[in-house]
Amino acid sequence: MNKIIFFGGKGGVGKTTCSASYAVFSADLGLKTLLVSTDPAHSTSDIFEKNIADTITNIMPNLDAIEISGEKESKLYMDSVRKSLKNVVSPVIVKEINKQIDAASVSPGTEEAALFDKMIDIITEKVKEYDRIIFDTAPTGHTVRLLTLPELLGAWLETLINKRQKSVSLMSMANHNGYADKSEAEKDEVIKILKRRLDKINLAKKIMMDDKLLSFIFVINAEKLPIDETMKAINILEKYNISVDGIIINKILPDNMHDDFWKNKKEQELKYLDIISEKFKHKKIFKLPMLAEDMKSDNIGEIAAKFKDFK
Ligand SMILES: Nc1ncnc2c1ncn2[C@@H]1O[C@H](COP(=O)(O)OP(=O)(O)O)[C@@H](O)[C@H]1O
Ligand SMILES: [Mg+2]
Repeated sequence: MNKIIFFGGKGGVGKTTCSASYAVFSADLGLKTLLVSTDPAHSTSDIFEKNIADTITNIMPNLDAIEISGEKESKLYMDSVRKSLKNVVSPVIVKEINKQIDAASVSPGTEEAALFDKMIDIITEKVKEYDRIIFDTAPTGHTVRLLTLPELLGAWLETLINKRQKSVSLMSMANHNGYADKSEAEKDEVIKILKRRLDKINLAKKIMMDDKLLSFIFVINAEKLPIDETMKAINILEKYNISVDGIIINKILPDNMHDDFWKNKKEQELKYLDIISEKFKHKKIFKLPMLAEDMKSDNIGEIAAKFKDFK
């Protein structure tokens, strides 16, 4: 497994369970581990029965955790935009701009972009300090959109930079009798900001596509909907050159079922297991048992110990 690991999948399949127990497994191996929860549901706090906030919190020796949210990050970002604009524009239009910023902060995409920024910051700032960084992600659709964002944002930023360069050049020509002063484009604050964004996006793309640095694991259950949803997600991610390393089939039923209901369930499961090994035959496949009780801080070690066979 690589240094950075993403756990993705449909809601309720066991992403939080797998990422938290894999984090405990890594910490037990002696690897300094950071568990990052990006799912707005934030079940990481619940599973460890500890209040983990948006600052790095120690869980046990070698294991720290943090919960980040797009909503909060986008508010912080918009506030910083507001502050920096105050110095650039006249008070008369500040009011109008504030209205626009308020509208932008609730528009779709803004929270995802802010969350993505925060994830990249964590990776770049913490990659040296930790041996492993594990991400517990939001349900599939959200995560796929998030991970394919750099490609879309990158192209959009390049267009904005080109447009701004043209208009700065035209203004410069108007001010210097038809000759554009090239240094004016270099000094332009808007271009500088856009270029910084583009650099960050390109760094993100590099990280996402580096299959020596990042592993993506999908968690599924042996049921139709999680299998279908995961196949679609893998296709999209691989189009964007993000490779998916493995599949964890969580909540596998015990073998010797007695009553008819459970025997029937087990038979269905076996059918789906065949389908899974066929559909995902080029991926690492790993199975985790259904525990008698739901996940709490006291049985997380039981799942963590199983990961010693996950290679
Ligand atoms: N192997 C397992 N055995 C028993 N219960 C499990 C197992 N994995 C997950 N659960 C339970 O299933 C529910 C969903 O798990 P969770 O990890 O929160 O999923 P997700 O993060 O994908 O939404 C939780 O109530 C959890 O306790
Ligand atoms: Mg979860």
